[in-house]
Parts: sequence; C-alpha cells; structure tokens
Amino acid sequence: MEYDINDPSLAEGGVRHVEWADQAMPVLAEVRKRFERERPLAAVRIAACLHITAETANLARTLKAGGAQVVLCGSNPLSTQDDVAAALTERYETPVFARCGEDDQTYYSHIASALSLEPNLTMDDGADLVTTILTKRTDLADNIVASMEETTTGVNRLRAMEADGVLRFPVFAINDAMTKHLFDNRYGTGQSTVDGILRATGVLLAGMNVVVAGYGMCGRGLAMRMKGMGAHVVVTETDPLRALEAAMDGFEVLPMDQAAKRGDLFVTVTGNAEVLRKEHFLKMKDGALLANSGHFNVEISIDNLSELAEDIVRQVRPNVDEFRLEDGKRLYLLAEGRLINLAAAEGHPACVMDMSFALQALTAEFAVKNTADLEPKVYRVPEDIDQWVAQLKLQTMGITIDKLTERQQQYMAGWQEGT
Ligand code: ADE
Repeated sequence: MEYDINDPSLAEGGVRHVEWADQAMPVLAEVRKRFERERPLAAVRIAACLHITAETANLARTLKAGGAQVVLCGSNPLSTQDDVAAALTERYETPVFARCGEDDQTYYSHIASALSLEPNLTMDDGADLVTTILTKRTDLADNIVASMEETTTGVNRLRAMEADGVLRFPVFAINDAMTKHLFDNRYGTGQSTVDGILRATGVLLAGMNVVVAGYGMCGRGLAMRMKGMGAHVVVTETDPLRALEAAMDGFEVLPMDQAAKRGDLFVTVTGNAEVLRKEHFLKMKDGALLANSGHFNVEISIDNLSELAEDIVRQVRPNVDEFRLEDGKRLYLLAEGRLINLAAAEGHPACVMDMSFALQALTAEFAVKNTADLEPKVYRVPEDIDQWVAQLKLQTMGITIDKLTERQQQYMAGWQEGT
C-alpha cells in the first residue's frame, strides 16, 4: 500500500525510538506475545487515526502480531514523530499517512487515504475517522465491526452521534476504562503538558501564577504537577462538583474573568470551545503565555487573538507566537493552540500509554470475538479487561497486593452483620 510521510531516511533512529518506548510497555508486550500465538485479529483490516508516536508504533506492531492489516494516519497535524512514521513504513511494514506540520487539507486527505484500506475496524483519537465514515464514506459503515475511541473529546462526539441516532456501528469508549483515564489522563497529561510548556518556553514555573481551565482528569493531573513545581495554581470550572473538588484539593477557584488578570500562564484542558476569548485577552497581563492541552485547537480563540493583534504576529522561538495588541501588550500563544504536550513535547510517557494501548488491543479482540452481540451504540470496555490490565501493570511494577480472606469475602457479600 502507498504511504505519505516526511522523511523515510529517519527510519533507523525511529526504530531505536520505538524500541526504547517498548521497554516501558510490558503489558502491551505481553498482549503482543499472546497475539503472535493466537492470531485473534486475522482477517481484520484496521485503520487507526492516532498520534503517530513511538507508543502508537508499538500498538501497531501488536495489532499486526495479532494478524491484522493496519494503516495509520495522524490524529493531529503537529503531533507526528517523523522518525517513527519512517520506522513504521520502512521497517515495520505499516503504511502511514502523516507528516508533522501538515496543513488541515493534508490532514483530511490523509484520513481519506487511510480509509482506502476499507477497514472493518477503526481506532480513533478524537473521532475523526468515525465522523468521516458517517459523513463522507457512508459506503464503509456496514462493514465496520467496531470502532475504538481513545480520548474524552472523541467519546463526547460519539455520545452526541448516539443521541442523534446517526451511529451505525458499535464503538468502545477506551477513555472511560479505569486503567485509561485515571492514569493516562491524569499522570500522562499532567506531566507531558508541563514538559511541552517547558520545552517551548524554558520558563521557571516556581512562583508563577498558573491558571488551569478545566478540572476533569487532565486538569487535575496538570494542577497537581504545576503545584509540585512551585506554581500558584488557580482553577476555573463550569461544573460545581469539579469546582468544589478543586477547592478542597487546595486550589483557588475563580471565574476566568477574574483569573485573566492574574495569570502568567494559562492552560486550557476543558474539551470545550472559546474558553479563552477576547474579553479575557483584554484583561491579561503583558507577557502572558497561552497554552492548550485539550484535544482540539478550539479552546483558545485564535480568531479573537488575531483580530486584537491586527495580525501583527511574530514567532519568537519555535512553538511560541507573539501577538502584539494595540496598546502594546504582548500575549504568547504556544504551539498554535494545538495540544501542547504532543506538539511541543512527545506526548504521554510510554509507561502510561502501555495501559491505554493494551486496552485498545484487547478491546479490539473482544469486539471481533463478540460481533454478533454488539449494536450501534457506545460501549464501555469490559471490566475484566480493565482488571487484567491493572493486575499485570502492578505485576510489572513489582508490586504485590493483599487477597481477601474467605471471612472478608463473606463479610463483603453479606448484610446481616452490623455494629
Ligand atoms: N496521546 C497522548 N500521548 C500519546 C502518546 N505518547 N502516543 C500516542 N497517543 C498519545
């Protein structure tokens, strides 16, 4: 099959990169070993729209070990690791359609190219493949056994499709598994967002006023890590429960209108649009940094920024664009408002993607084995898969835990015993 990547000559370094990540992905490696023996994905054609990283390469190797034919396209124009894309096409016999820095038109043409495999199973990080199938390639929908969705934003889109009655095949919300969002979203996003901001700017976080917009799992992880680095963290929320949790976790909670005046650094992680907009930009301090770690580049209104700056923009260093407002105030947008952890750093560490991608592979196997029982709706990952991933992760970390005694099992199952 054809492919489209930036530079095939990067393959050798890419292989080392993929192997380095693999060392930190023992759960996925265990799945791969079994898949090699049992070939549960024979005759499955998988199109996967994921960030093209070393971790994703190890997922692709696992799916192929299971007998699947796999094609990849990137799930963000800035997140592709070109060396990994080269390793995949040149050494791991996996076609890739992704170039770091591609424009939006190329991004969508790459999705179209991946779909030319005529997949019967898809994997998404943000639901762009499913959306394309349901809107532009409806001819493919009847053959899709199932689709897997990696991220919160994608799951939200899929639930909206289900509510609108347009979903035509079963989809699995990988994001909602415990061994995904409790770890990947919290510790993965927390650390890699700090990593991206530091690589882009080199600022000292200690003593900084950092405004974290959104206190879902990703926001919680980020606020925790920023606090750990010595920042003064302010949280903004629209959900009362989450706001309460942030307050009791020890963070100052403010409406963005007020936080705007305070922040030295703003990070959006809400999954919603226009979280930072004109009214906020006008209140911000000179030199404020603006970053987004949500899936799409809609959380910071770049249109509003451009209007205010009358298009006076200059790149002051890679991944840092200066917008100079009429009054001379400068605001700095990081990584074009695209997800900072993948655009300016390498995304979540392999150790945490290990669990997320083991879930992807095992749930794909489950879907293929249970096709007859599945309907066009959003499914949770089966609990036994979640438990197995947690058990094995603990084991590979050298952690053993207690077992319930018989007496404890009886106690937990009973109701007669009280004070
Ligand atoms: N999403 C966040 N981090 C990632 C990574 N390292 N690889 C693939 N997808 C990711």
